[in-house]
Amino acid sequence: GAPYPVFTRQEVGQHRSLADRVWVTYGNEVFDITDFVELHPGGQSKILLAAGGALELLWAMYAVHSQEHVLGILRGYKVGEL
Ligand code: HEM
Repeated sequence: GAPYPVFTRQEVGQHRSLADRVWVTYGNEVFDITDFVELHPGGQSKILLAAGGALELLWAMYAVHSQEHVLGILRGYKVGEL
């Protein structure tokens, strides 16, 4: 497949609200999760804590995400790499 566009962490950090779109990173991958925010089983306020940054620390605190089906959802929103 075609390579994904490459972004810096600073660029990801500019996407921190629904108006600016909500991006997060996981490993070296970048995801635009804007359309998932209102679908999140844990609520909008929690998922928005990760907006513009990395998921790892927050997901370590909420182990419910350590499941293949959660990663599958995330994968569907990939827009780039770091
Ligand atoms: C639950 C996805 C970010 C907090 C869930 C579930 C999914 C999900 C699919 C349901 C899992 C299950 O029950 O099998 C995601 C995705 C995220 C994200 C794709 C990022 C792109 C976050 C963040 C937090 C968070 C950053 C906290 C700061 C929670 C909590 C639940 C939950 C507390 C449990 C809700 C409940 O069962 O009452 N998330 N999540 N999530 N998430 Fe997230």
